Amino acid sequence: MRVITVAGARPNFVKIASLVRRMRNVNGIEHLLVHTGQHYDESMSKQFFEDLCIPRPDVNLNVGSGTQAEQTAEILKRFEPVALKYQPDVVVVVGDVNSTIACGLAAKKIGQDVAHVEAGLRSFDRTMPEEINRVLTDAIADLHFVTEKSAIRNLQHEGIAKEKIHFVGNVMIDTLTAQRERAEKSCIRTRLGLDGTAAHYALVTLHRPSNVDDPMTLEPLLRVLKCLSEHLRIVFPMHPRTRKSVEQAQLAGYLNSSRIQAIEPLGYLDFLNLMGHANLVLTDSGGIQEETTVLGIPCLTVRENTERPVTVEQGTNQVVGTDPDRIMAAAQRLVTAKEKHHKVPKLWDGHAADRIVDVLLRKYAPDRAK
Ligand code: UD1
Repeated sequence: MRVITVAGARPNFVKIASLVRRMRNVNGIEHLLVHTGQHYDESMSKQFFEDLCIPRPDVNLNVGSGTQAEQTAEILKRFEPVALKYQPDVVVVVGDVNSTIACGLAAKKIGQDVAHVEAGLRSFDRTMPEEINRVLTDAIADLHFVTEKSAIRNLQHEGIAKEKIHFVGNVMIDTLTAQRERAEKSCIRTRLGLDGTAAHYALVTLHRPSNVDDPMTLEPLLRVLKCLSEHLRIVFPMHPRTRKSVEQAQLAGYLNSSRIQAIEPLGYLDFLNLMGHANLVLTDSGGIQEETTVLGIPCLTVRENTERPVTVEQGTNQVVGTDPDRIMAAAQRLVTAKEKHHKVPKLWDGHAADRIVDVLLRKYAPDRAK
């Protein structure tokens, strides 16, 4: 069986780590790892490959940044010859970033099979570029690997045949499970002075275009951070998009406080360590909603919706929107609340990649399948 696995942006690297390891450990799989270059900074890309011991990509398309159309088009153009030359049985794409739809589409148009890992998640908000990427990738994929039951319902509702859908669990949680012990050894909290009496802190990430690109939305969110910092110290690893926006709108004053640490993006192990010891996490990321659910850390999602409802129904996640009063009220409740009962969702057990590779072998190399 010949497989191409594609990764382009930070959350993709976390998701492919366990898949690539599994594929390279099973006899009879020829595997090509393609990095599109959507994320390229040391802190957004290289650090993740090192932290997660992901082998060097066999091919790097080096697309870099651009508008939605430029970036997607450039990936489409540069991936096609790679897929044509390698002739895989299947191209595996993960998540919902521009690299996911671009490589999926390029492969499908030249008659290759596409497997989508983390299929079927829906925010039902088509103003999000990620929602467009999810819907389109699922429309053309031949295999849909899903993390939660809502995704099965969404796919069936969109007319995807039952036999193409496989409930396998969550590859992002495979990585968390595998790396937790190593992450505990990180010295990041000492480096940031977060020990002893200063051990109470909120960990914050914000990078969604809808939250950070427009100063009218960003400013109230930064005001919330300032307010929250009176109760808890704040650690805020800033995505390059967010930093640029804060600087352009001249809003850096909000972060100018000894109780707010606005730092560069962190590697996987440092971030996991910080997340695991935080009093609360405030985020607009998708994956962090899942990771905090498994870690049992309260998470406030600064969006109007989530495509990962299981994290609210069973986990520690609350979707609080972007209204400053609502966010502050929810944060204050959490600071004083007893721990909320939560459960780890079904099949988020560290073995999703094994299940995915089993399905691929059964379809593309039945003589090798268990
Ligand atoms: C992308 C994904 C988003 C994911 C996020 C994780 C899409 C549509 N969005 O958003 O779903 O949650 O990655 O981070 O694919 N930049 C750098 N260095 C880098 C990468 C980006 O400085 O290594 C800057 C560039 O100015 C770029 C901006 O960040 O224009 C945005 O990067 P881009 O890849 O377009 O989207 P993200 O916002 O990172």
